[in-house]
Amino acid sequence: MPLAHINGRSILLAPSILSADFAHLGEQAGAAEAAGADWLQVDVMDGMFVPNISVGLPVVAALRRAIGITLDCHLMIAQPERYVADFVKAGANHITVHVEATRHLHRTIQHIKELGATAGAALSPATPLGVLEEILPYLDLVLIMSVNPGFGGQAYIPTTTDKIARLRRILDARGLGHIHVQVDGGVKVDNLAAIVSAGATNIVVGSAIYNERQTVAEAIAELRRALRSAE
Ligand code: DX5
Repeated sequence: MPLAHINGRSILLAPSILSADFAHLGEQAGAAEAAGADWLQVDVMDGMFVPNISVGLPVVAALRRAIGITLDCHLMIAQPERYVADFVKAGANHITVHVEATRHLHRTIQHIKELGATAGAALSPATPLGVLEEILPYLDLVLIMSVNPGFGGQAYIPTTTDKIARLRRILDARGLGHIHVQVDGGVKVDNLAAIVSAGATNIVVGSAIYNERQTVAEAIAELRRALRSAE
């Protein structure tokens, strides 16, 4: 159930399980689905592309058995093209690769789509929008990282909001408004409305959903309330 409908667009919620309690991962994923999450994001990290190691194929396969919503694999790994087929086989419905990690982005995006999944390209904070100029028409999603990839619980980089707005203008000007604008990193109740007003349509949230202060359902309800005023 989308978080909101704003400017004629559905705003989708994609909780990131990176901050979840891994001792109860199936329940934690199920709680997000039960609270109306649209997608579930799995952050795959290899210790090379990013300075952290997280989860891989067996966890994706286990989550596939636990939930029915869209499984979104954010690959923060070097040469992701080596593994996209395995992630689709494990149950990924959507795969995002970093433009900084793959040498032949068009080939990698095409490959993901030939495998029957939807495809996204991610930009780390220092990577300019200009690198997307040629690949945009082939994408289902652009992921704007609002933190340096690798860890949950980091602070949102404020200049990201303007980057989102510029991307939104480019997409609308090129008739590509259907492409998801996903934002990931440091999204909280107090910055969500500005991020969505700038043009984001797919919101990744980790520690603001998976934390000790509240249940997953309470956290997601709070995010919905935060957007209600913007509808
Ligand atoms: C960081 C990951 C994010 C992270 C988000 O590299 O890509 O998905 O888990 O967590 P928060 O919302 O806590 O920044």
